[in-house]
Amino acid sequence: MVSLVIDFPEPRLHTPLRVALRLLALLRKAKGATDPSLCEAELWCLGKIACIAHPPGASMIAIVRFPPRAGEMPSGKGAPYDQIQPMPATTSYQHLLQVKNLETEFHTDYGVVRAVDGVDLHIDEGETVGLVGESGCGKSVAALSIVRLVPDPPGRIVGGQVLFEGIDLLRLDVREMRHVRGAKIGIIFQEPLTSLNPVLSIERQIVEPLQEHLGMTRRQASSRATELLDLVGIPDASARIRDYPHMMSGGQRQRIMIAIALSCNPRLLIADEATTALDVTIQAQILELMKDLTERFGTALLMITHNLGVVARYADRVCVMYAGKIREMAPSEELYGNPKHPYTLGLLGSVPRLDMQREAGKLTQIPGDVPDPTRMPPGCAFNPRCDYAVERCSEEDPWMEEVSEGHVAACWESARVG
Ligand SMILES: Nc1ncnc2c1ncn2[C@@H]1O[C@H](COP(=O)(O)OP(=O)(O)OP(=O)(O)O)[C@@H](O)[C@H]1O
Ligand code: SF4
Ligand SMILES: [Mg+2]
Repeated sequence: MVSLVIDFPEPRLHTPLRVALRLLALLRKAKGATDPSLCEAELWCLGKIACIAHPPGASMIAIVRFPPRAGEMPSGKGAPYDQIQPMPATTSYQHLLQVKNLETEFHTDYGVVRAVDGVDLHIDEGETVGLVGESGCGKSVAALSIVRLVPDPPGRIVGGQVLFEGIDLLRLDVREMRHVRGAKIGIIFQEPLTSLNPVLSIERQIVEPLQEHLGMTRRQASSRATELLDLVGIPDASARIRDYPHMMSGGQRQRIMIAIALSCNPRLLIADEATTALDVTIQAQILELMKDLTERFGTALLMITHNLGVVARYADRVCVMYAGKIREMAPSEELYGNPKHPYTLGLLGSVPRLDMQREAGKLTQIPGDVPDPTRMPPGCAFNPRCDYAVERCSEEDPWMEEVSEGHVAACWESARVG
């Protein structure tokens, strides 16, 4: 990241484009650059970031990321989305997203709920990771913590790091974080009606982030918005774009959410139960669309769901969460074929399968309920429900251990499981 401080006598007279051109000239001068394609890439970066502040009485400040990152458009001239060619990544960090020992609490009348209790997970460029677990285990709060949208109060992130492109998001200021949410991490929640603004047209809701984060003009943004609606399969996009959310079906609203979330070509998309409210046919269409678009743009995907079938089909890796912690993590095939945590085994046993013979037995269920989050049992939180439990389980909480390459589980008895 390069920070340039530029003194503009009348900042309000300068459009982002003029500022970008001025910055470009300065960059060229500073680097003695002569390669026009390099400059074009730089101009795109400048237009995309457009992170320009003019504090009262001070110089205008522009934050410029250089060189461009993978997956960005080579120019701001409105190349159709399916022609976007990823650029080589040049910055160095181990994982696109790395969550380390994340802790989020809620202070309620009944006590402190440790909804996220030391979560570690990572997602690489272009990877699809599934996050599964029973209701109340902390999946949504983990996602909200990553993008710093935990309602505060009563919630608060009390520890850990969320490294995105090597930068700890928990240390960014509000303005920087808003930019990350708009341009770098797209989010889709379960119920689009609560995420879409009912009094703004669809067009306005897609155009605004394009203008704010990509520095597009109104006309450019409007044409890109129509292109995006077309891309997510809204028929007659140029007319429907003027509609309001209530004029769309549930499936169409979810497609619009995908269009908004992907509009700025983010590097990570978080989809929290994005299709649970839809009927199965529409669910399948939306999932296919999400997978197709993220693959095309090289976007990493964190897919949060109850549905283990969905995860098996779409995720490269799966994280299984229970009582605020990740208990098992493995590549999808390995997790389904060789689960090493009794909780994962229980979840898999409760999924109906077409290839299962009737006589092979009934679906199993995990006995008992998720523990009261204000009164967690000592030791392993799964202990009261676990068929494999031994004495140690009620005394000591197990830590993650590698059971095979890329496969980790937190269970004292994992060698017996499976
Ligand atoms: N605003 C809040 N105030 C108090 N507690 C909360 C709040 N939001 C979440 N929690 C608690 O945090 C824990 C984790 O909730 P979370 O919504 O992350 O579960 P989840 O795994 O996403 O469940 P589901 O699959 O039902 O969406 C739960 O015990 C929940 O009661
Ligand atoms: S540590 Fe013990 S209680 Fe926890 S999952 Fe393993 S066997 Fe069961
Ligand atoms: Mg949830």
